[in-house]
Amino acid sequence: MKDITLIEGLKTRRSIRSYLDKPVPDRLIEELLETVRWAPSSSNNQPWRFVVVRDQKKKASLRGGLRDAIIPFSKQIGEAPVVFVAWYTPSIVLKKWQVSDVSNAVTYLLLAAHARGLGTCWIGWFSEERVKKTLNLPKKAVVVALVTAGYPAEDPKPKDRKPVSDIAFRDTCDAPWGSGVADR
Ligand SMILES: Cc1cc2nc3c(=O)[nH]c(=O)nc-3n(C[C@H](O)[C@H](O)[C@H](O)COP(=O)(O)O)c2cc1C
Repeated sequence: MKDITLIEGLKTRRSIRSYLDKPVPDRLIEELLETVRWAPSSSNNQPWRFVVVRDQKKKASLRGGLRDAIIPFSKQIGEAPVVFVAWYTPSIVLKKWQVSDVSNAVTYLLLAAHARGLGTCWIGWFSEERVKKTLNLPKKAVVVALVTAGYPAEDPKPKDRKPVSDIAFRDTCDAPWGSGVADR
C-alpha cells in the first residue's frame, strides 16, 4: 500500500474523474471513515454523516435532477465504484459552523483516500432534493458534498494555483505577503 508524508499528500492530491473497474474493499472504506472521524469540528460536535453508495441504480439516481448544462460536471457519479454522500442535520446552536465541519471531514476523506492510492473527486453539482430522496435522508438534512472514489484511471497534471503573494497579507489586507518586509 502507498504511504506518503502529509505535506507530500496535500500537494499531490488531484481530482480524479476516471476510475478503473476495480472494486474498493470494505476494509479500505472503513479505514478512510475511521480517519475522517479525526477532523476538527465546532465544539467537537462531529455533525458529519456519510452514506457510502455502491449500488449502480442508486448512483444513477444520485446523478438525476440536474439541468442538462450541469450534467457533465457530475458524470463521474455514475462511473465511480463508490460515492460517499456527506450530510448533516442542522443544530440550532452550531448550525453556523456545521458546513465547515462537514467540509473538513470531506477534505480528510480526499486526503486519506489519496494516501491509500485511491482517487477522489468532490462533487458540488447535485440536486439536494434528489440525493435526499434517493438515500432516504431526513427532511432536515443538509447535503454538503458527494465524493466519487475509486482506483485512478488517469494521472492529471496539477491545476494552476495562485502564488502566496496573491493570497496572503501582512497584518492588514493592504500589505501583500512578500511586499518587502524583512524576515522576522
Ligand atoms: C466545493 C467543491 C465543489 C466541486 N464540485 C465539483 C463538481 O461538481 N464536479 C467536478 O468535476 N469537480 C468538482 N470539484 C473539483 C474541483 O473542480 C477541483 O478541486 C479544482 O478544479 C482543482 O483541481 P484539483 O482538485 O485536481 O487540484 C469541486 C471541488 C470543490 C472543493
